[in-house]
Amino acid sequence: MFFQIEVTTHCSFTCFYCAGRDMPQRHMGWPVFERVLEHIPAGAHTVSLQGEGEPTLHPRFWDMVSAVRMRGFAPTTITNGYEIDAERLAAELPDIAVSLDTLDETEATRIGRLKLHRVLASLDRLLAAMGPGRVRIMTVDYGQDLQPLRQFLQGKGVYQHIVQPLQSKDDYARRYPDQATAAGQYHYQCRFLRAPVMRYYDVEGREMPCCFIKDVSTFTSIDALADSLLQGVVPPPCAGCREIMTGSRLPAHA
Ligand SMILES: C[S@@+](CC[C@H](N)C(=O)[O-])C[C@H]1O[C@@H](n2cnc3c(N)ncnc32)[C@H](O)[C@@H]1O
Ligand code: SF4
Ligand code: SF4
Repeated sequence: MFFQIEVTTHCSFTCFYCAGRDMPQRHMGWPVFERVLEHIPAGAHTVSLQGEGEPTLHPRFWDMVSAVRMRGFAPTTITNGYEIDAERLAAELPDIAVSLDTLDETEATRIGRLKLHRVLASLDRLLAAMGPGRVRIMTVDYGQDLQPLRQFLQGKGVYQHIVQPLQSKDDYARRYPDQATAAGQYHYQCRFLRAPVMRYYDVEGREMPCCFIKDVSTFTSIDALADSLLQGVVPPPCAGCREIMTGSRLPAHA
């Protein structure tokens, strides 16, 4: 199974679409991290160290990677690529994802993905150390021309390019009300609640059924979400979620 741990909400970037910029800025405490890790049953699981912040900024990021490996799990992460130790990541992680939305430095800065030249240099180092098969690129499609990026990645041999639309959920879309794209009718069927698909632990160690709940003020439990949907009522933490709408596509990670 896939487990995701939000190790920090701190970030060095200011992406306009990032729900994390409105969250309390904190690193997950080590005791919380240990408790979460102990909660994950033994098995061939992937544990992604990543939430609404830049994971590599956690002062104990490498201890976390070691702890995940010691439990026999496969560690992974998604990084903004700004200040990373590419060679160490290559040595300790089976795979990694780097976020890249545009190749235009002015545009990247405008949307909050800062220091594009450094991100591209990091990507080159990762590709040299890991090879293209172990590196995924994550792109948010907010309406930019994606052709140059696609050609660039093709030229580098990167074939895992995940392009996801801007999240439509209310707790993300409040940052871009003019670009919100939620459409369709609710059908109330959520894969993540029907059976455990993944588990997400936020920076406080709260266990959730998916990685899409960012406003936790009304979240009580996974069972409460499932009960509410069974009764045909969309619980506030799920408002606007594409997963429970007809004709919509849910982003892979957020
Ligand atoms: C929240 S970031 C955290 C990891 C790291 N800071 C980064 O940006 O790669 C994880 C992924 O979610 C994506 N993401 C963040 N906000 C989003 C949104 N509103 N809609 C779609 N994807 C989003 C990011 O672009 C990134 O690929
Ligand atoms: S999407 Fe990632 S890089 Fe951008 S502000 Fe959010 S946490 Fe930082
Ligand atoms: S936020 Fe979406 S994916 Fe998560 S439990 Fe609610 S409906 Fe399901």
